[in-house]
Amino acid sequence: MSNLAKVVGWVDDRFPLTSTWKTHISEYYAPKNFNFWYYFGSLAMLVLVIQLVTGIFLTMNYKPDARYAFASVEYIMRDVNYGWLIRYMHSTGASMFFVVVYLHMVRGLMYGSYRKPRELVWMIGMGIYLCLMGEAFMGYLLPWGQMSYWGAQVIISLFDAISPPLALWIRGDYVVSDATLNRFFAFHVIALPLVLVGLVLVHIVALHEVGSNNPDGIEIKKNKDPKTGIPLDGINFHPYYTVKDLVGVSVFLAIFSAVVFFAPEMGGYFLEANNFIPADPMKTPPHIAPVWYFTPFYAILRAVPQKQLGVLAMGAAVVIFLALPWLDRGIVKSIRYRGNLYKTAFGIFIVSFLILGYMGTQDPNLWYVNPVSRICSITYFLFFLAMPIYTRLDKTRQVPDRVTE
Ligand code: HEM
Repeated sequence: MSNLAKVVGWVDDRFPLTSTWKTHISEYYAPKNFNFWYYFGSLAMLVLVIQLVTGIFLTMNYKPDARYAFASVEYIMRDVNYGWLIRYMHSTGASMFFVVVYLHMVRGLMYGSYRKPRELVWMIGMGIYLCLMGEAFMGYLLPWGQMSYWGAQVIISLFDAISPPLALWIRGDYVVSDATLNRFFAFHVIALPLVLVGLVLVHIVALHEVGSNNPDGIEIKKNKDPKTGIPLDGINFHPYYTVKDLVGVSVFLAIFSAVVFFAPEMGGYFLEANNFIPADPMKTPPHIAPVWYFTPFYAILRAVPQKQLGVLAMGAAVVIFLALPWLDRGIVKSIRYRGNLYKTAFGIFIVSFLILGYMGTQDPNLWYVNPVSRICSITYFLFFLAMPIYTRLDKTRQVPDRVTE
């Protein structure tokens, strides 16, 4: 027996090392027909690691104090060795996190991955998404630029519409101030990352309990080899998908580096021009908009004329995803075998979401912003609310017994 085997054996007698590796990696049988859309789960984990590591290094030189926060970020950018790289990786990572997670969610929608038996995987995923939104929102206040300050002011004041004491409690003051910065820092660097990492672990454990879905929406556990009990359409996650995921990681890192090195501001979408101006509580910028990943929901908020109702609509637009497993009444899971009704509804939903995202970045005084946002908000909600009807009426195709290549 080699020395390594001896050490592993020693650990195995005291901790389930080999068995955990087998259950979750080398003997986790994943459907053999994973495609492009299945890259984004592992990429989300990669971005999470990038954010945690760069975040730790940023924290070494950042000052969570309203007097020094802005200057400490400038110090990181100019004087700290490779500080510019660490900060651009972190700011680009924030946007890329949402790119990856949105594509990951679209995959779930397309292939019905939220359906039985993966309802809990989906709901935990939604927990991750909400946590990620909180993490991004609080992180955005930290550079203490004009957009950080006024973005936080606008969003926290939404709670004023629901309950003024609640808004006061969140801010810790009557306006966004040093107290707000301190608590947001605490949540951003430790509380939410802990929850996020915990939820991601639970997400994977829940997924591995029921097994992965696939582009055909077939349950591979229904067709097992009678002798070995291994799904006939399953292949070992390692080495097959570890190698496949490495291809995704390489392409992703190429794109990520291109943004970090050549376009870290991404035309104002990843880092806004106004945020290079220090926060000034006496000067409201003429046009306040959140970062792109929040703009679809911001557009829904603005589309509703009454403030309280707008806040409710915005909240509902996010949490309604939780109800998907019960709204979908279709016989098949994957869009491949669905009929034209579902495909049309899905297409309209994606287009509405993209248009809402664009409208949320635009000045609300432009003549088209309100009417277009209103129409798209309606089509957005109709996708969910009418789902029990159109998924039942939809003419679906017969799903094959075994996955297609
Ligand atoms: C930090 C964020 C996230 C990480 C690291 C993550 C990670 C993963 C990983 C590694 C997988 C397995 C590989 C794959 O199917 O791509 C997975 C599957 C899944 N995730 Fe996530 N996820 C995240 C966020 C979300 C969100 C926001 C949702 C939805 C609301 C979600 C829903 C799902 C579903 C339904 C599956 C099963 C997909 C299938 O088998 O077809 N995840 N996730």
